[in-house]
Amino acid sequence: MPYSSNQILGIDIGGSGIKGSIVDVTNGALLCERHKILTPSNAKPEELAEVFKQVVDKFNYKGIVGCGFPAVVQNGVVKTAANISKKNIGVNINEVLSKVSDCNVLVFNDADAAGYASVSFGAAKEQKGVVLFLTIGTGIGSALIIDNKLVPNTEFGHIFMQNGLISEKYASDFIRQNQELSWDEWGERLNEFLLYIESIINPELIIIGGGVSKKMDKFQHKITIKTKFIPSVYLNNAGIVGAASLAAKKS
Ligand code: BGC
Repeated sequence: MPYSSNQILGIDIGGSGIKGSIVDVTNGALLCERHKILTPSNAKPEELAEVFKQVVDKFNYKGIVGCGFPAVVQNGVVKTAANISKKNIGVNINEVLSKVSDCNVLVFNDADAAGYASVSFGAAKEQKGVVLFLTIGTGIGSALIIDNKLVPNTEFGHIFMQNGLISEKYASDFIRQNQELSWDEWGERLNEFLLYIESIINPELIIIGGGVSKKMDKFQHKITIKTKFIPSVYLNNAGIVGAASLAAKKS
């Protein structure tokens, strides 16, 4: 199917799924039903590339692709690997994914991509000052936004909490499920993390994305931060929308 120049494929490579859709980058709308394939565990770049290609092929798409990736990514090169194979470190993932799909793929940190959706079309658009976007899933990703500008590759999911634990190893959604925590127990952990972050960066607004953003009613009563705290309007599609929009902007 022919796509117009405002219709960009966004793909979100996450710890559990690789999902994509065509995004209208003028308004952030998903134009097709999302296609999702499970992420192979401990995936090396070639294995991720294979699944990535299957998602691109599903849309019969050629052109610019924006892709969120669960690691620090600088100029297309992967710098960290917390929840993916260490074999990804040092790899120019822009090149690997462009080659396998025959598209022009631009890769960004997944939380930065999701945060960018909020800057372009969501709650961070009208908000001046410091906004923190957090994606809570397999890990905890962060996007720091200052006066509508993204500060890329912050990693607040890797700060040591006052209890000595790395925040994403204490309060991610994966930990909630893996340790069979109740929503109340997990909500208290998330609150500890948020109180700590709030005391360090004092943002005007915290936006939460990832699967748990759909379930705020289950844990919101445990959150005691003073900062305004809201779910992303795109819920867990923010990564797809933001990746497509960032790619359109940068290309
Ligand atoms: C990674 C981040 C990523 C987050 C969410 C963390 O483990 O270090 O780069 O944004 O998971 O996927």
